Amino acid sequence: MENTWNTDLYQQQHSFVWQLGQDVIALLAPQPGERILDLGCGTGQLTAAIAAQGATVTGIDADAAMVAQAQQQYPELDFAVADARTFTLPEPVDAVFSNATLHWVNEAEGAIAQIWTALKPGGRFAAEFGGQGNMAQVLAALAETRADLGYGPSQATPWYFPSVGEYATLLEQQGFEVRFATLFDRPTPLTGETGLVDWLQMFAGRFLADIPAEAHPDLRQKIQAKLRSRLYQNGQWFADYRRIRVLAVKPD
Ligand code: BEZ
Repeated sequence: MENTWNTDLYQQQHSFVWQLGQDVIALLAPQPGERILDLGCGTGQLTAAIAAQGATVTGIDADAAMVAQAQQQYPELDFAVADARTFTLPEPVDAVFSNATLHWVNEAEGAIAQIWTALKPGGRFAAEFGGQGNMAQVLAALAETRADLGYGPSQATPWYFPSVGEYATLLEQQGFEVRFATLFDRPTPLTGETGLVDWLQMFAGRFLADIPAEAHPDLRQKIQAKLRSRLYQNGQWFADYRRIRVLAVKPD
């Protein structure tokens, strides 16, 4: 899940990532005094929201620029650069929280094993990320636009969008009790008239990595134009997000 993020574009145009994370915090139900890990903390807004409920939170993220930004904004909190597949903690925590991160981790079993190890017996794992069918229209338009311009299919496989059955099975194979798991459509409003272009610039670079950089702006415009009739409504762009949301417990 190596990435170099544009933290300014992320904070200015993609604040929905953490604004829509509030429901996952409700699922986590942090309690005062608990120790909680925020896995994939980005620029730290949800880490801070969990800490505001009285928990002691550590935020980790694979991207050093995100972690630097988080630390600058919330100097009182604890952040570190770490990979979901390999992180370790000095001591086990009461809960692991993760919002909009685990779709970047293709090695899902590795991440689940680390989460298991990070939890105390009785600890819980509350997460939301892209599920099966996430961004299907955007990805189809991207593939079509590449073909229209004479490029072959992208070989990039940057995202993991599992079904509920697949992900719950992986959790159970690890030993978790899956208490709640659902897959739902969540069309997600994007910011501004270039919302879809900005989303592509922020998140979909790897699908264009084999194409000269000077062609990217035009490609992004063409993808956005293809999607206008489906993903632009009443002056607003939407991303066709579909989320998987889970709550699982490590038995005592
Ligand atoms: C998502 O939140 O579903 C997502 C974000 C960036 C890239 C892919 C998926």
